[in-house]
Order: sequence, then structure tokens, then C-alpha cells
Amino acid sequence: MKRTLICIAGMLLFGLSACQKPCECPVADEPVACGVPEQAAAPEAAAPEAAAPEAAKPAADETPITAGAEEIVLPKPVATDVTLTKALEERRSVRNYDAEKNLKLQDVSNLLWSAYGVNRPDGKRTAPSARNMQSATIYALFEKGAYKYDHAAHKLIRLSEADLRPLKVAPMELLVTSNFTGDNADDPAKAVDYATIRGIDTGVVAQNVHLYCAAAGLATVIRMQRTRDDAIVSGLQLTDNDHLIFNMAIGYEQK
Ligand SMILES: Cc1cc2nc3c(=O)[nH]c(=O)nc-3n(C[C@H](O)[C@H](O)[C@H](O)COP(=O)(O)O)c2cc1C
Repeated sequence: MKRTLICIAGMLLFGLSACQKPCECPVADEPVACGVPEQAAAPEAAAPEAAAPEAAKPAADETPITAGAEEIVLPKPVATDVTLTKALEERRSVRNYDAEKNLKLQDVSNLLWSAYGVNRPDGKRTAPSARNMQSATIYALFEKGAYKYDHAAHKLIRLSEADLRPLKVAPMELLVTSNFTGDNADDPAKAVDYATIRGIDTGVVAQNVHLYCAAAGLATVIRMQRTRDDAIVSGLQLTDNDHLIFNMAIGYEQK
């Protein structure tokens, strides 16, 4: 609320664009992903680096993801130049992944923002949600750790150092849960209703993931998540009200 008021004030003072910049609302007191992605900027000339001892250099393709960092601040999402129509043409399920090819951090950022990031100053998201309860939560699971997607800060918070990927076939596997408070109402008809809403609230996120993957040349497939074992429940700190809905493997297709 406070942020929204500050944003409105900022828009009046600085013009509408003040609150439409991606990821940083210049007049808000904390960074928020509050706009559409920027077009990719031309690469800047790299600043000269101090010489580091040979042994201290990370592997060339190491990222905070492959290193299993505790917190991964994602880069600003960048727009692809693929049209929505082209992405819809390309969208399909892929089940064979190149085990050797890791995802770029920028793709992880773009994908999570597309899936369920914040796209407006009022904190609403790229996918609709029933009564704006924003019931879906995305967990990004890698070989070196399991993370929760913090949409407001656009970062990944490590919850476990374990490899909790359900299938272990792709470099990143998403688990999507739904949490509705108050859906265990006595009325069974209402319970059925909530189950449907959970499916829809998370299903729209899945299609966002599919479309981003199609646009970015990534491969994915959605599968219902039927296993709810102790490792997942404790590793992801799930409560009884966090319903596991589906997983999505994300990577590059094995050709
Ligand atoms: C809710 C849902 C559950 C699915 N479960 C699986 C699954 O368990 N295993 C699988 O290989 N594909 C699964 N799929 C993917 C479908 O098989 C796939 O979308 C369908 O065959 C159409 O192919 P396409 O996505 O390439 O158009 C699922 C899709 C949805 C929407």
C-alpha cells in the first residue's frame, strides 16, 4: 500500500514512466519488479579486472546456480524478440534433455518473471489468480540446491542444499504449489471448488513457462506432482496447506 502510494506520487512528480521501469521503482523505498522487461542492452566493455590467482578462478560456465549460492539475486528480466504468435507456434512438450547443458542465469530470471513475476507497481503478477490470492508458489530445484522464488525481490532463496528435483532429468525442475487459507470449509461443494481454483491458478503459470521456453529455445514439460515425501516437505518447508500441484523440467532439448 505504502509502495503504491509512493509510486502514484512518483508518477505525478516524474511522469508515468517512473513506475513502469522493470525491477526498480525509482521512487519506492525498496526494489520491486514493477514493469515489463527491458530490451537487451548492448554489451558494455568489460572493466579491467585485477589478476586473480589461477586456482581461485571459478569454472568459466559457473553461475550462482551451479555453485549452489545461498541467495541468488536474479538479473533484470530482458525481453525476447520473439512474437507471441511465434512462441505459440513453437510451444510443445519435450521429454529428453541435454544433461550437460546448464541454464543461463538470465534465462532463469526471464523464465521466473514470465511465469509469475510482478509486472505492475501494485504488486500484481504476470498470471491471473482467483480473488488475487496469488496462491501459487514456485520452487526452483537444481542439483546444488532447492530455492523458493521471491517474486517481490525477484530473487531465489535457498531452502535446502539437497537435490530435490523430482525427476533429475533437467538442470532446473520447477515445483509449483498452491496455498489457499480457509479452503478446508465444511461444505464439500466448496472444497471441490477450491481444488478447481488451485488447478487453474497454477495452470496459468505453467502456460507462461511453456511460452517463455518456446520463445527462448528452451525445452519443458509439465507433469502432475504426485509424490509428497518427507524430503520435499521438510526441504521446502511446506505446511499442510501447501498443495503440491505439478512439476516442470526445464533445459535444452537433447537432439
Ligand atoms: C495437467 C497436465 C499433466 C501432464 N502430465 C504429463 C505427464 O505426467 N507426463 C508427460 O510426459 N506429459 C504430461 N503432460 C504433457 C502432455 O502429455 C502434453 O501436453 C500433451 O501430450 C500434448 O503435447 P504438447 O504439449 O507437445 O502439445 C501433462 C500435461 C498437462 C496439462
